Amino acid sequence: MNQNEQKILVANTAIDTLIKEGKIFSGMKIGLGTGSTAMPAVKRLAEHLEKGTIKDVKAVVTSFQTANACQEWGIPVYSLNDKIIDGQLDLAIDGADEVDPNCNCIKGGGAALLQEKMVEYNSKIFVVIADSSKSVQTIGTGFRVPVEIIGAARIPVVKALNALGADCVLREGVKKCGPVITDNGNQILDCLWQNPIDVPKMEEEINKIVGVVENGLFTKNKPIVFIAKEDGSVEQRNWH
Ligand code: A5P
Repeated sequence: MNQNEQKILVANTAIDTLIKEGKIFSGMKIGLGTGSTAMPAVKRLAEHLEKGTIKDVKAVVTSFQTANACQEWGIPVYSLNDKIIDGQLDLAIDGADEVDPNCNCIKGGGAALLQEKMVEYNSKIFVVIADSSKSVQTIGTGFRVPVEIIGAARIPVVKALNALGADCVLREGVKKCGPVITDNGNQILDCLWQNPIDVPKMEEEINKIVGVVENGLFTKNKPIVFIAKEDGSVEQRNWH
């Protein structure tokens, strides 16, 4: 199975399994992620709503991409601040750029890390869906960790990240001159370490830097992870 087929397989398997297990249920409040693995999951959820397997799901989205998908597929969207949501979700489902054996993740390859963390850290259950290429032994030394920053603080933030051992690259737009501007009006520094890092500690250290809005290390709300394999099977990892 190629990577795209794996993304669709893992998205469909996760949604169907979570419905069977009663973790996705009628009337629930669900967080919906961003990216090429999250989109087929949103679509599968919409298909179940259409069929009536589940009803009356209230979604909180993590990007313009997901908001548009929900509008297209008829899933009602709320904000964390709406009274009916009250700042707390039952479950959130999303892709990841890398997942390590401790279920720590890198997210934000699509620059949606801030809203993803807002949604996924305020969810009782967090579920990550990924193709086999995302499963790694160590994070921080392969895929660059995205850090969302206030553009006006770029130089001091780069210096502070360098002091934490990171090499930083400002993410550039595609078909747009200059930096990528996130859904929140900020910029992204993609950071790489030469040596393995203490991932939970680094998540905290980066956020102490003035001018950093959020970083793409996700270590605090351990997800249930579904990973597709090239042979067409799906592995489920539960963190205890
Ligand atoms: C969006 O900013 C990300 O966190 C995505 O969830 C992550 O980049 C995985 O994306 P794909 O599923 O497209 O690989």
